[in-house]
Amino acid sequence: MDPKELIKEALVAQGRAKAKYSNFHVGTALLTEDNQIIHGCNIESAAYPSTMCSERVAIYAAIAQNISTFKAIAIVSEESAKPCGPCRQIIHEYLGNVPIYISDGKNIDNFETHFIKDLLPYPFG
Ligand code: THU
Repeated sequence: MDPKELIKEALVAQGRAKAKYSNFHVGTALLTEDNQIIHGCNIESAAYPSTMCSERVAIYAAIAQNISTFKAIAIVSEESAKPCGPCRQIIHEYLGNVPIYISDGKNIDNFETHFIKDLLPYPFG
């Protein structure tokens, strides 16, 4: 799949973010080994620590559907934000070294490509 198509899926998911406290909307699209798309978005809570990041919503949803092999992940946020520390750990453990496409959702042609071995050197586990 063209990375830009996966980024467009992440953009759709970004539109579903529940981010009324931070107003920072993040969307994720996971491409599974059998070419399914699993969406994620950040979901915030009035009990702030209950908030869950977009990346982990997608990864946990896939695992709960018995999907455990992936080809790529796309993440969209207003500032092309890189995954937070806990999301990097979960990407390391459950996605491995798949391409991580990151976009600000505006200029989709200028997306970034990263790999978890670079974002999380010397990982735990
Ligand atoms: N957020 C994500 O969805 N992914 C990250 O990797 C970092 C942060 C969300 C959590 C919270 O809803 C908002 O962005 C601001 O931190």
